[in-house]
Amino acid sequence: MAAPTGTCCKIGPSILNADLSNLASECQRMMDSGSDFLHLDVMDGHFVPNLTFGHPVVKCLRPKLPGVYFEMHMMVNNPEKWVEGMADAGADLYTFHIEGSDDPMTCIRKIKEAGMRAGVGIKPGTPVESLLPLLKEVDWVIIMTVEPGFGGQKFMEDMMPKVRYLRENFRTLDIEVDGGVGPKTIHQCAEAGANVIVSGSAVVMSDDPKETIRMMRQVVEEAMPKPLVER
Ligand code: DX5
Ligand code: ZN
Repeated sequence: MAAPTGTCCKIGPSILNADLSNLASECQRMMDSGSDFLHLDVMDGHFVPNLTFGHPVVKCLRPKLPGVYFEMHMMVNNPEKWVEGMADAGADLYTFHIEGSDDPMTCIRKIKEAGMRAGVGIKPGTPVESLLPLLKEVDWVIIMTVEPGFGGQKFMEDMMPKVRYLRENFRTLDIEVDGGVGPKTIHQCAEAGANVIVSGSAVVMSDDPKETIRMMRQVVEEAMPKPLVER
């Protein structure tokens, strides 16, 4: 399974606001619309005030979507608890929030030992500098552009300095923005230097998801310094 690496543009729909009674077909519809990967939001009702699904659902989804890259966005406390279950279910990338972990470094090590790629995320109130000690071990970060917990919220433009700071200092880092990202806000994300785009409602509820994804990709690629375009 090809891992999306480097700083090419990658678009991963969040299926949180999709018709979850048809999860596999909604995921397939997103892949058929030109997505690079799927961003699967896991919530535990503690780290965030909402619940979604866990590794048993991912395990059922895996055979229906062979070859599709699964990013698990783990909005949970004690993220190390679910590492083995997610690896066994067929997840590719395990992205957890440093605010939910007592020992992020150990969690990263466990994720890698389980055969997955590791990523770390921060909520809007967490300073970007908190990520710095971890960036020698991970090459994928999520900058939340809403308070995690729900799809369809308003994009927080004031998170863009975090993205800009990371891009200026870490040229090859995969920098993902998540929350309220769509055609109206993609320009700000792209100009700040984000290359991994999570978009939920804007893509899932679009009349033409293929065109929405194409447009966002174009904006991101046009904003990239040319040597960074590796597609
Ligand atoms: C929020 C989730 C996001 C969200 C994205 O807690 O992590 O992935 O569902 O959905 P939109 O794009 O609708 O904000
Ligand atoms: Zn998410």
